[in-house]
Amino acid sequence: MKQLLVFLCGSLALAVSLAAPTQHDAMMADPPVENPKADEDSHYDSKFDRCDGVEFDAIAPDETGQMFFFKGDHLWKGFAGPSEHANGTFQELDEYHHLGHVDAAFRMHNKEEEAQKDHDHIFFFLDDKVFSYYNHILEKGFPLEIQQVFPGVPSHLDAAVECPKGECITDSVLFFKGHEVYNFDIKTKTVKKKVWDHLPNCTSAVRWLEHYYCFHGHNFTRFHPVSGEVVGDYPKDARRYFMRCADFGHGAGHKKPPCKLDAISTDDKGRTYAFMENVYIRLDSHRDGSHPFPITRSWKEISGRVDAVFAYGDKLYIIQGNQIYIYKSAAHYTLIEGYPKPLKEELGIEGPVNAAFLCPNQHVVHVIKGQKMLEIDLTATPRTVKKELPITIAQVDAAMCDTDGVKVYVGPVYYKYQSPTIMAVAKISPAPQKISPEKFSCEA
Ligand SMILES: *[C@@H]1O[C@H](CO)[C@@H](O)[C@H](O)[C@H]1NC(C)=O
Ligand SMILES: *[C@@H]1O[C@H](CO)[C@@H](O)[C@H](O)[C@H]1NC(C)=O
Ligand SMILES: *[C@@H]1O[C@H](CO)[C@@H](O)[C@H](O)[C@H]1NC(C)=O
Repeated sequence: MKQLLVFLCGSLALAVSLAAPTQHDAMMADPPVENPKADEDSHYDSKFDRCDGVEFDAIAPDETGQMFFFKGDHLWKGFAGPSEHANGTFQELDEYHHLGHVDAAFRMHNKEEEAQKDHDHIFFFLDDKVFSYYNHILEKGFPLEIQQVFPGVPSHLDAAVECPKGECITDSVLFFKGHEVYNFDIKTKTVKKKVWDHLPNCTSAVRWLEHYYCFHGHNFTRFHPVSGEVVGDYPKDARRYFMRCADFGHGAGHKKPPCKLDAISTDDKGRTYAFMENVYIRLDSHRDGSHPFPITRSWKEISGRVDAVFAYGDKLYIIQGNQIYIYKSAAHYTLIEGYPKPLKEELGIEGPVNAAFLCPNQHVVHVIKGQKMLEIDLTATPRTVKKELPITIAQVDAAMCDTDGVKVYVGPVYYKYQSPTIMAVAKISPAPQKISPEKFSCEA
């Protein structure tokens, strides 16, 4: 737990905002770095300085979301700070080999029931051996020959990265050796070999917030885990994105958004998003830390602030003014053809609205507009307001409904109701609760 807290605090310090509108689009899909702090790097004595341009041997997160960067017998924890001896964290790595470096590492994603025991373990590859760690403790029986655990995967690897189902076709691991990529299916233990000549030879690879990065030299290239396709302007210098380096900052002005939500919703994949100004944060992914991202990173057609967001089936509805955008939610979101459309045409109401939410397994969306709650049956054609109820709360910013009931967000606080009906009949507001600046990565 302590570890987790340390990490969360670390990631908050990092939590950046890519909110500055002047920033270049191309960086939006890549990880954030905060403004470098000049006083930070001056007083440590370690072998490597990653701001000099280090070619990493391996990069992988652990079970708490802490990211490790490996070089020789050293490692870095997270996106900022000095290097330290790797044996301080992963003790046995040192005892079994004397080469002084790991070839590859990845964090296992394996939710299949019979094999859950290795979910979230970090696997290290050294020559022909594999090591499995959990909670920084070497698992019993390890190290093993790579072939015993990953049949068909060669020794002396260059890089490895997890690829969960939904992003790859099945829960898989991608192993890199030169231009060869071995796609290992975790369940069937079968390997498909591909050749990705167009990618640089990766010396390390990492999955971070559903994106895939191949590191080469001090650069990295983002690729699609199934096709290997590279879209956008790559390579990029890792020092601008994956670490804080004084000469590689993005300039001043990064600021957390104030704790006031524009919208909040959970999609059918269990991803919960809070929208604030032109950024969003994921509330369900502490496995990768908590970071604000520009809304355009996931919904590229949306510019500026949103008014309301709700999920229905495998679709996410985003309302902005008098327009509604409908996205199909899969690993990534795709705008459905013909959208955005006028709100009037889709839901039979005029914008702007304050908030909208659907309760689990329901077909009725509740739209809050001023001090009214409008109920629209999404199975009806055409869609019209079935019911209109007055509500006591004014100036609602956002609302959501889950198995706990309804939460209504107003400025820095929120109110909890057992159900939309109770909310509508309540004459007195329940006690307000504060939005957590830690959880929402916002400025109280
Ligand atoms: C880790 O390795 C360094 C350098 O080889 C050595 O000096 C140190 O004693 C080792 N520490 C542990 C905990 O094994
Ligand atoms: C990349 O790997 C291939 C082996 O697949 C090797 O022949 C080639 O020299 C490597 N390229 C570089 C730039 O290291
Ligand atoms: C990194 O990328 C830059 C820009 O594309 C390129 O000029 C440089 O040669 C690359 N360096 C390495 C070590 O890959």
